Amino acid sequence: MCGITGYVGYEEAKEILLKGLEKLEYRGYDSAGIAMMDETEVQVFKEKGRIARLREVVDEHVKAHVGIGHTRWATHGVPSRSNAHPHQSASGRFTLVHNGVIENYTLLQQKYLQDVLFQSDTDSEVVVQLIEKFADEGMDAEEAIRKTLPLLEGSYAIAIIDMENAGTIFVAKNKSPLLVGVGDGFNVVASDAMAMIQVTDMYIELMDQEMVILKKDEVTIKNLAGEIVNREPYKAEIDASDIEKGTYPHYMLKEIDEQPLVMRKIIQAYQNEEGELEIAEDIIEAVKESDRIYIVACGTSYHAGLVGKQFIEKLAGIPVEVHVASEFSYNMPLLSEKPFFIFISQSGETADSRGVLVQVKELDHKALTITNVPGSTLSREADFTMLLHAGPEIAVASTKAYTAQIAVLAILANVVAQSRGWNPGFDLIHELGIIANAMETLCDSKEEFEKIASEFLPFTRNCFFIGRSLDYFVCLEGALKLKEISYIQAEGFAGGELKHGTIALIEDGTPVIALATQENVNWSIRGNVKEVGARGANPCIISMAGLETDEDRFVLPAVHELLTPLISVVPLQLIAYYASLHRGCDVDKPRNLAKSVTVE
Ligand code: G6P
Repeated sequence: MCGITGYVGYEEAKEILLKGLEKLEYRGYDSAGIAMMDETEVQVFKEKGRIARLREVVDEHVKAHVGIGHTRWATHGVPSRSNAHPHQSASGRFTLVHNGVIENYTLLQQKYLQDVLFQSDTDSEVVVQLIEKFADEGMDAEEAIRKTLPLLEGSYAIAIIDMENAGTIFVAKNKSPLLVGVGDGFNVVASDAMAMIQVTDMYIELMDQEMVILKKDEVTIKNLAGEIVNREPYKAEIDASDIEKGTYPHYMLKEIDEQPLVMRKIIQAYQNEEGELEIAEDIIEAVKESDRIYIVACGTSYHAGLVGKQFIEKLAGIPVEVHVASEFSYNMPLLSEKPFFIFISQSGETADSRGVLVQVKELDHKALTITNVPGSTLSREADFTMLLHAGPEIAVASTKAYTAQIAVLAILANVVAQSRGWNPGFDLIHELGIIANAMETLCDSKEEFEKIASEFLPFTRNCFFIGRSLDYFVCLEGALKLKEISYIQAEGFAGGELKHGTIALIEDGTPVIALATQENVNWSIRGNVKEVGARGANPCIISMAGLETDEDRFVLPAVHELLTPLISVVPLQLIAYYASLHRGCDVDKPRNLAKSVTVE
C-alpha cells in the first residue's frame, strides 16, 4: 500500500528517495513520484506504473539535498500521473505526499477551497491546498500545518516541503504509520523502516496527532498544541540482507524456503533456560481470566486464527471466536462477560484490524497482538505482544508469517494449558522440531509441486480445495494463495458441504485439490473426492503418511495431527507459486493487492 520516503541532509536526495521507494515496492502500488527541493525551486516527477518508469522521467541533473517520495495505491481517483503524489498547492509553494484517507475531503473542499482549481481527483490534494490557504492568510508554514491537521478526519501520514523553508521537511501522522529516521548530518522519514534501513537503523516512533519539523541536524517533535515532545530513537532490528532476494528469483520462494528456519527461531525465542516454553506471565493470566477469546484478523492472518482457535479450545479449554476485522468493526458480536482479544497481523499495521483494536480499547478490554513487526501500531496499542520472529516478509502473498502465526498460537495454547496443570499430551518443542524437518523435506520436493501445478493449473479458470476439520482451514489459505498470485478463481470448501451446492460447479477437468491429514475424517474426505471425481473433476489428493492410499498424489511426512496445518500448507504455497509462474503473473507483486493495507 502507499509508501512514503523523505530525506534532508548533505547527500543528493534523488537516489536515496528512489531506492527507498524500491524497498517499499513489495507493499503494492500503482504509481510513484518524488519531489526535490533546492534553494530556488521544487521539481516534481511522477509516473503511473512501476518505479523503473519513474526513474526514466526523473531529470538526472537535479542535485537537491531535500526531497520526498511516494508510492500510491489508488483509493480516491484512478491510477494516473495526475493522481500520483507528490501534489502541489495552487501556487506551487507547498508539495505533499500522503498515505491514508481523508474522509471529509469533499466537505473541506466546499467549505474552504471553492476557489481553488484542483489538479487531481485525490482526497490528498485537499491537505496541501488547505495549508497554502492558511499560509496565504498570514500564518507561517508550521502554523498553517497545525491549523490544517485537526480539520482532517480519517487517517494520514504526510510529508510536506515548503519553498520558503528550504532545508526542512514537515511531517505529521494520525493512524497511518510513519517513522523518522535519525542519521549523522541527515534525517529521513519513512512509512516503514525497511525503506531507509540502508541509510540508518535508528528510528523515532511518532504517535497519532504529532508533527515533526525535520532538518538535516535537528528533529523537533510537537503535539498539535505546539508543545515539544521528547522521544529517544530506538534501533530497528532489521538486517538489511534479510530484505534482499539473494539468488532467489522471487521473494515468495525465498520466504517459503525460510519456513523451517523460522520454526527453529520461534522455538528458540519462546524457550527459557530450562528448555521449556515460556511466555510473559501477564499474558497467561489475562488469557486464563477470560471466559471467551475473540481472534480478529484479515486475509491470511484470519486463516491462521481459524487454526489457532482449534489449539486454544482443544489444549487450553477456552472457547474462541474468530472474526474478520472489517466485519467485526461494523457488526460487533455480543461479547461475553470477560472477553480477551487476540489480533493477528503480520504487518501490525492493517487498518481494519486497528479499527477494531481502537474500539476494544475504548471498551477497556485486554488485547494481545501477534505480529511480525515489533513497534508496529497494533503492537504498541495492544496490552501485550507476541512476536513471530519470521524476519521481514516481502512477497505480497504471505507464507512464512502464516506458519509462524500458527506456531506462536500453538505455543500460547500449550503454555496456558500447562499453567493450568493440564497435560497437552505432547512435547510441543519436540513436535515443532519435527515440523521444521518435515518442512525442509517439502521444500526439497519442489519439482513435485511444480509438476502438479503444470499438470492441473496452467489453463484452468477455476480450482477447488477441499478438506475437513483442520484441513478445511488450510484449504481456505491454499485457495487464497492461488487466487492472489495466479488469478485463477480458487475456493476452499468443507468437504461435507460440497453436495449442498458447490458440486454444481464441477465440470469435466475441474481441478480439485483435497487434503487428507486427519484420521477421523480420512474416509469421509475421500468419499467427497469420489463424488467430485464421478462428475468429471480432476482430483489431486495430498495426504499424511499413515493415512495414504494408492490414489494419492503426494504423501506428507508424518507430524503431530494437531499441527498438520504447518506442513500441509507448504505444498499449497508451492503449487500457487508455480501456477503463478507458469501463467506469467507477477509472483511477488500481484495486481490490485497490497502487502500492508493501511486504509479501511
Ligand atoms: C493484505 C495482504 C494479505 C494479508 C492481509 C492481512 O490483504 O495482501 O497477504 O494476509 O493484508 O495483513 P496483516 O499484515 O494484518 O497480516
